[in-house]
Amino acid sequence: MKITTVIGARPQFIKASFLSRCFCDLGVRERLLHTGQHYDANMSEVFFEELQIPKPARNLGVGGQGHGAQTGQMLSAIEADLLDFSADAMLVYGDTNSTLAGALAAAKLHIPVIHIEAGLRSFDKKMPEEINRILTDHVSDSLLCPTPAAVENLKNEGISSSVHLVGDVMHRVLLDLAPIAKEKSTILERLSVFPKQYYLSTIHRAENTDDPVILSRIMETLTSLNEDVVLPLHPRTKQKLKEIGWDNQSDRLKIIEPVGYLDMLALTAGAKLLMTDSGGLQKEAAWLSTPCITLRDTTEWVETIESGWNTLVGTEDEKILSAINQYEQNELPGPMQVKTLTAESFVELFKQI
Ligand code: UD1
Ligand code: UDP
Repeated sequence: MKITTVIGARPQFIKASFLSRCFCDLGVRERLLHTGQHYDANMSEVFFEELQIPKPARNLGVGGQGHGAQTGQMLSAIEADLLDFSADAMLVYGDTNSTLAGALAAAKLHIPVIHIEAGLRSFDKKMPEEINRILTDHVSDSLLCPTPAAVENLKNEGISSSVHLVGDVMHRVLLDLAPIAKEKSTILERLSVFPKQYYLSTIHRAENTDDPVILSRIMETLTSLNEDVVLPLHPRTKQKLKEIGWDNQSDRLKIIEPVGYLDMLALTAGAKLLMTDSGGLQKEAAWLSTPCITLRDTTEWVETIESGWNTLVGTEDEKILSAINQYEQNELPGPMQVKTLTAESFVELFKQI
């Protein structure tokens, strides 16, 4: 069997690190296509090296630009690749523009689409990711869901055949690598921060970075806190901060370049609290028993809220400060329940697809 997998953004490299190994074990020939959506070494190459992901067959070099140009150029380049190298199936991850382009290119050529992380919904169509999720699910032939809520969401949209509750691939990767991160990462020492004595933050969502008022408000809040804050800065946010001329005047806010996955796991596990608008980090924090404050109004990972480890606050500083107080003054919840994707169950399922 020949499968083409499209990846392009940081979280997709992390997810692919596990399933690409499963494909080797299954004897499936996987053709990895990197769209080039993320292209800086610390957003792409670092993960291929650290997580030993096979080198992509091609990098399509489609990074930057607006949604239309980016998705359109990916679509055209992926279609050309599928015509040159036939595939029995297309595999896509998550909800980025690379996901949508891969799914659409394959569906139009009648190549079955397998969507990993199907069924997630934030119910906020202003998020480009929500559009990508809905469209990808509706052209997919096998929908592999991480949670029962995702299965339910699909049912509510009339999709119930070929829907499989497989568990969470990111949890699988975290389980395998958290012990290695604990042993090997020296990031806390390098930053001179101490376990449970600093906050961690990441910001990259369009809704938080495109509006200068919202972005400056978030940065002002991060600089006003009574703890060190480590902020691995996404290149999108770096560029937006430069455009608005924002300058860090605080010794407590440690702005660093994006880090590799092992360092990020160590930073998340060591943090007293995470403030983020990331999707994946909300879950990783909960799994590592680090409270998370999500700087958004909605989330597709509702289980993290139900578990008590995550609070949705938006970007108003009073709400952020009040959520921090809540976590600092109250007992933390018990471990969050999660269904992990296992190699065995994936291999069994894949044989049926
Ligand atoms: C994308 C995904 C988002 C995901 C995130 C993961 C979409 C619509 N968005 O958002 O769902 O959560 O990746 O991190 O697909 N840039 C660089 N170097 C890079 C990558 C990006 O400088 O290596 C800058 C460029 O100016 C680029 C901007 O960041 O235009 C935005 O990048 P893009 O990939 O379009 O969106 P993200 O915000 O990264
Ligand atoms: N991550 C990382 N280095 C960083 C920031 C994030 O390795 O500097 C990891 C993080 O641990 C998680 C994934 O990247 O596994 C999340 O990516 P991101 O927040 O960019 O995307 P999202 O999950 O929001 O789509």
